Amino acid sequence: MGILLDSASVEDARRAQELGFVEGITTNPRLIAETGRPGLDVLSDLVEVFDGDVFFQLTANTVEARTDEAWQAYEIRPDKVVIKVPTTTENLAMVSKLVPAGIQCAMTAVYSPAQAYLAAQVRAAFVIPYVNRMKRQIGEGAMDIVRDMVRLVAGSQTQVLAASFKSLDEVIETRLAGVDCLTMPLDLILAMGNHELSQQAIEDFARYL
Ligand code: G3P
Repeated sequence: MGILLDSASVEDARRAQELGFVEGITTNPRLIAETGRPGLDVLSDLVEVFDGDVFFQLTANTVEARTDEAWQAYEIRPDKVVIKVPTTTENLAMVSKLVPAGIQCAMTAVYSPAQAYLAAQVRAAFVIPYVNRMKRQIGEGAMDIVRDMVRLVAGSQTQVLAASFKSLDEVIETRLAGVDCLTMPLDLILAMGNHELSQQAIEDFARYL
């Protein structure tokens, strides 16, 4: 995957579908809460309007309850749902059982290369570092950590999927660090294709029409 939408809005999902180049949708508990609806209902709608993978984050309090939640979400649309869980040893152990059972999983809130390495060991499909948060919380070394994650999972079935972007500069810096998959809000996706000088060129050409 390349560019993904970070949103739980069905309207945003429809717009992403129309764009044609958005390959997946990531959601999280905050984005789901913003819809004011139960998470699994939102997930059902997103997989209906969008053709690609839709990531759903587990929120139940115990491993047993999270495992049940994973199966409930997966069964909504087995070919499209990717289960997302924050990275802890406990959740890595859970994912090590969900993956052989056929559920695609993503480890999210990954802050260290060691976590990314272990996520690849349990055959998570994605590791998700939060770029803007890392820059704010860790500072200068944040992009080096992301680069190390890319090197550590290279050659495995695990891909780095970077999230938490607040600007296009961050998106491009992350892509240049070797990250193939980038998830961002709709406004950043829409801004990516535009430039004021491109618009000016269009207006210049229009004078000849
Ligand atoms: O979906 C997780 C990630 O995108 C979080 O972003 O904006 O809460 O740092 P943010």
